[in-house]
Amino acid sequence: QLLLVIHVTVLDANDNAPVFSQAVYKASLPENSPIGTVVITVSATDADEGVNGDVTYEFGHVTDEVMKIFSIDNKVGEIRVMDTVDYEVKASYEIRIKAKDGLGLSSYAQVIISITDVNDNAPVVSLKSLTNQIPENTPAGTEVGIINVQDRDSENNRQVRCSIQENVPFKLVPSIKNYYSLVTTGQLDRELVSDYNITITATDEGSPPLSSSKTIQLSVADINDNPPVFEEQSYSAYVSENNKPGSSLCTVSARDPDWRQNGTVIYSLLPGEVNGASVSSYLSVNGDTGVIHAVRSFDYEQFRSFKVQVMARDNGSPPLSSNVTVSVFISDVNDNSPQILYPAVEGSSFMTELVPKAAHGGSLVSKVIAVDADSGQNAWLSYHIVKATDPGLFRNTVELVLDKELDREKQKEINLLLTALDGGSPQRSGTVVIHLSVADINDNPPMFEEQSYSAYVSENNKPGSSLCAVSARDPDWRQNGTVIYSLLPGEVNGASVSSYLSVNGDTGVIHAVRSFDYEQFRSFKVQVMARDNGSPPLSSNVTVSVFISDVNDNSPQILYPAPEGSSFMTELVPKAAHGGSLVSKVIAVDADSGQNAWLSYHIVKATDPGLFSIDLHSGEIRTQRDISESDSMKQNLIVAVKDNGQPSLSATCSMYLLISDNLAEVPELKDISYDEKNSKLTSYLIIALVSVSTFFLTFIIIILGVRFCRRRKPRLLFDGAVAIPGAYLPPNYADVDGTGTLRSTYNYDAYLTTGSRTSDFKFVSSYNDNTLPADQTLKKSPTDFTDVFGVCDDSPEV
Ligand SMILES: *[C@@H]1O[C@H](CO)[C@@H](O)[C@H](O)[C@H]1NC(C)=O
Ligand SMILES: *[C@@H]1O[C@H](CO)[C@@H](O)[C@H](O)[C@H]1NC(C)=O
Ligand SMILES: *[C@@H]1O[C@H](CO)[C@@H](O)[C@H](O)[C@H]1NC(C)=O
Repeated sequence: QLLLVIHVTVLDANDNAPVFSQAVYKASLPENSPIGTVVITVSATDADEGVNGDVTYEFGHVTDEVMKIFSIDNKVGEIRVMDTVDYEVKASYEIRIKAKDGLGLSSYAQVIISITDVNDNAPVVSLKSLTNQIPENTPAGTEVGIINVQDRDSENNRQVRCSIQENVPFKLVPSIKNYYSLVTTGQLDRELVSDYNITITATDEGSPPLSSSKTIQLSVADINDNPPVFEEQSYSAYVSENNKPGSSLCTVSARDPDWRQNGTVIYSLLPGEVNGASVSSYLSVNGDTGVIHAVRSFDYEQFRSFKVQVMARDNGSPPLSSNVTVSVFISDVNDNSPQILYPAVEGSSFMTELVPKAAHGGSLVSKVIAVDADSGQNAWLSYHIVKATDPGLFRNTVELVLDKELDREKQKEINLLLTALDGGSPQRSGTVVIHLSVADINDNPPMFEEQSYSAYVSENNKPGSSLCAVSARDPDWRQNGTVIYSLLPGEVNGASVSSYLSVNGDTGVIHAVRSFDYEQFRSFKVQVMARDNGSPPLSSNVTVSVFISDVNDNSPQILYPAPEGSSFMTELVPKAAHGGSLVSKVIAVDADSGQNAWLSYHIVKATDPGLFSIDLHSGEIRTQRDISESDSMKQNLIVAVKDNGQPSLSATCSMYLLISDNLAEVPELKDISYDEKNSKLTSYLIIALVSVSTFFLTFIIIILGVRFCRRRKPRLLFDGAVAIPGAYLPPNYADVDGTGTLRSTYNYDAYLTTGSRTSDFKFVSSYNDNTLPADQTLKKSPTDFTDVFGVCDDSPEV
C-alpha cells in the first residue's frame, strides 16, 4: 500500500519552481506484477498561485526501455508498471522524473524502483558429462556423469536440493556449487539390468518450492563375464548300431546371457580318443546348432558306449567356455550270426573221436561252444541238430550227448549238421558240420572164416612150400583189427610143431618147414591162433589138419636075393623038381603105401624062358614043367619088381638057379657068379642062404621092434641099420599095410632131415658104392633117389 503525501503550495507568482517533496523516491516492485500496478506516486509543490503553481509530471531523460515498462501520470505523478518486469532480467530501475509548472519552471527528482524476486523459476538440471555405456564390471563409486543444477531465482528461491530415485545403483554426490557427480553404488550387471532411466529431481527452497527433474538414460555395456552354460548337466544319445554315417544323434544347447558376440555360442568337440581313435572320427558337432552327428557307423560289438566332451564357447575376447559330457549309447542290432567255436570249425567241418566204451546213451561226447557277438535276445542261442547220419543219436542240447549206444563196427562215422540259432529278429544262424568218427575199442576177437582148416600136401614137399592159408577177420580198427597169425606151441611126434610148420604172421599162409614123409606120418594137427594187436589182445584158435599124401618115392626094395656084388647067391633046384614046385621067392618091399607099394613081379629075362614062372604078386618062382636032363644046369633069371605108382618104380635082380642035386656039381661057382646067364647054385646053398637071411631078418625085426617100442628114435635106428653091412634093411616091419607090403617108417628119415641133408646123404652114399655127387642128387626126383639107394644098378625105370 502506497502512501502518497502531496504537498500543495500556493503560488502567488510565478516566482517559485515546483519542488519535489523528496529528491529521491524509492519504491519496490515484485517482479511479474500485473500491468498497471502503481509503483509509486511522486509529488512536487509550487509556491505560486494559479497557473504559476500548476505542476505537471513527466519522465526526465529516460531510456526507451523505461519508457516501455513504466508510465507516469503527469497530473497525479503515479508511476505505473506497464510491462512485465523480471527480476532475473533487471533487478532495479532508476527513473529521473521532472515536475514543471505552467510557466515552465521545473525541477527534478530520482525514483529508484527495486524489483523484488519472486520464485518463478524452477531449477534446471543439466547434464555436463555422462558415460553412456557403463561397463558392467565398473566398480562401485565410479563417477559416471556430472550434473549441473541451475535456478534463476535468487536467495532461497535458488537454493536447490537434488535427488535421484531409489532402487538404482546410482547416487548423486555434491561436487562444487551446483554440481553433482553421478556415482555408481554397486556392481552393475548388464545381464540383470541393461538400461537405467535415472530421474534426477531438483527442488528449490522457494515458497512454494519449484522443482524439475531430468531423466538420464544409462546403458550398461556388456563385458564377457558369462560363459555359455549348457542346459543339461550331461547329454545322452541313443543310436542303434549300423547307423548311417551322418545321422544326427542329439542336440546340445548352451546359453550365454552376454551381449552379441559375447553371448554367441559356438559348439565344438573337445579333442580326445575313443578306443584309440580321435573322437572326430566318431562324431561331429554343428558349431552353430549343437546338433551332434555320427561320422561313421557304429558297431555295438566293438563298443557299446563312449563319451565325448562338447565345448560351448562364446565369441568374446577372451572367450569363455564350458564343457559337457555327451554319452553315446549304441544299441544292439542282430547283425551277427552265431558262430560255433567248438567243436572247432575248420572249413566248417571238424573231426573228433568218440570212445564207444564210455559213449553209452546219455554220455557227453562234446561240448558245443558257440558265440554270438550280439547281446541280449540277439545272442540268446539255441542248438539244433538239423541233419544227422543217424537222427536221434544225439540230443538237441548245448552239449553233444549221445542218446544211443555206439558200435563202431556198425557205424564208423557220424555226420551232424549242427545249427545255433539266435533269438534276434530276423533270426540268424551258424552252422557247423561235425564229423565224428567212432573210436575203436578192441571188442572183437579175430574170427576165422572156417571152423577148421585142412591142408593136403604130398610128401617130399619142398621145405618152405605153402600148404594152405588161414584167414581171420577182425572188424575192429587199426591195430585192434590187425590180425597176426601164429602157431600155438605143441608137439607132433615128439617134436615142436614149429619144426614142421610155420605160419606167416601177416598173411596166414602156412608153410611147411620141412619135407614131410608119408612113411613117417600121414597127418597131424596144429593149432593156429589169430590174435589182434589190441591191448589186451583178443584171439581165437583154429585147428589146421595137415594131411600128407603118399608119393611114389620109394622103389621096391628087393630083400632077396641080395643085391649083386655084396654077396653071391645061387639057388639050387633039384633035378627031380616037378612042374609047379617052388624054387625060390623074390622078396621085395616098398616103403610107399597103397598103389605105390603094390608090387608086381616079372621075369624079364630067362636062360630058358619056359622053365620058370614067377607069381605076379607073391614073387614065388616055380618051375613050369618038370626038369629034364636036357635043361641047362645054370639057369639065370632077371626079375623085375615094379610098384604100381605113377610113375611106377622098379627094381631088378638076378637070380642064379643051379639045377643040381649036388653042390659038388658046381665047379665054377665063381664063374657062375660072374656069368650071370649061366650061374647055378645048388638048392642047399639056396636053402642055407634063405635060412640065414630069414634068421637075420627075424633078428633085426626083434631088435628094432624092441627099441622102437621103447623110444622112437629113427636116426639111431637108422644108424643101427648102417652097422649091418649088406643091408640097410627097414628095421621095422610091424607096420604092414593092406597090400601086405612091408613098410618102413624110418627108411629115409636121414634124407628128410632138414638142414643136414648133405651130411645125411653122404652117409647114405658111403653105404652105397654107387654114389652120385651130392648136389646132383639133391635135384633129382624121388625116382632118382631110388637109383641112389638102388639095389640093382641096371634096374630099368619103368
Ligand atoms: C527409459 O525411458 C525410455 C524413454 O521413455 C523408455 O523407452 C525405456 O523403456 C525406459 N527404460 C526403462 C528401463 O525403464
Ligand atoms: C583199440 O582199442 C583200445 C581199447 O581197447 C583203444 O584204447 C585204442 O584206441 C584202439 N585203437 C585204435 C587204433 O582205435
Ligand atoms: C587159444 O589157445 C591158447 C593156448 O592154448 C589159449 O591160451 C587161448 O585162450 C585160446 N584162445 C581161445 C579163444 O580159445
